[in-house]
Amino acid sequence: MTQSHPRISKAVIPAAGLGTRFLPATKATPKEMLPVVDKPAIQYVVEEAVSAGLDDILMVTGRNKRPLEDHFDRNYELESALEKKGDARRLAKVQESSDLATMHYVRQGDPRGLGHAVLCAAPHVGNEPFAVLLGDDLIDPRDPLLQRMIEVQELYGGSVVALMEVAPEQVHLYGCAAVESTGDRDVVKVSGLVEKPEPADAPSNYAIIGRYVLDPAVFEVLRETEPGRGGEIQLTDALQLLAQDEKVGGPVHGVVFKGRRYDTGDRGDYLRAIVRLACEREDLGPDFRSWLRSYVTEEM
Ligand code: G1P
Repeated sequence: MTQSHPRISKAVIPAAGLGTRFLPATKATPKEMLPVVDKPAIQYVVEEAVSAGLDDILMVTGRNKRPLEDHFDRNYELESALEKKGDARRLAKVQESSDLATMHYVRQGDPRGLGHAVLCAAPHVGNEPFAVLLGDDLIDPRDPLLQRMIEVQELYGGSVVALMEVAPEQVHLYGCAAVESTGDRDVVKVSGLVEKPEPADAPSNYAIIGRYVLDPAVFEVLRETEPGRGGEIQLTDALQLLAQDEKVGGPVHGVVFKGRRYDTGDRGDYLRAIVRLACEREDLGPDFRSWLRSYVTEEM
């Protein structure tokens, strides 16, 4: 194990993917900037990190990702136009994203997988535990998963992954964990991990959803990790090594999440996420729900 519990303050958000599932929308716009209702998907993720107390955010980006940096920066032209108009409500919306957190960026020049993206964060993170949040998974702010993962990391040390039970036919889309129970109802010990297993090889139906709190020992392991599934350096493979040899970076635990998760990773899930979130919004929800009800009755 590394050291005694420094407070976790850093979050890493990999955002270098090409977003090919959303072409042509993502030809010149990063997929992280696609709106979920009226906010770019990435802002939900940064807000989640901030509400868990992580205000130092490192985004691992790539070519064509400038809009991400601009979104979390000031926009003086827009701000002064809104000020002149006296539109305080919209001005607040513009300023919200630049006031959220301290943002840092590093480029993943050569996109060699999630494990490689996390490794790009090593110089910034240094020798302390840190969180990783994947942008395709949105966690409802009313179900604070990351806070709980940080608590569990402080309690057990090592690394913590977020797990969710999924239908057996879905397991091949995720990293999958072999688990043992602990004294805590929502915490399991992870004894093994497989990236996107065939149904026959899946050790369980516990899928990794994109939240991790990691011991910095993972960097050393990632440096040695050979390309795995899809020819990419997989974070799951590095965590498998940590789970199997606790001397390297402490144990791996899983927090079993039963709350609301919205997947924005492919077009169907993205549409479902927007509809669900729009229905729940106080400002848009009532009108949208009644329109949706009549649309479904009349059109389907
Ligand atoms: C990644 C991880 C996978 C995890 C998933 C969660 O896969 O490699 O282990 O279950 O995120 O969203 P991706 O969906 O990026 O292919």
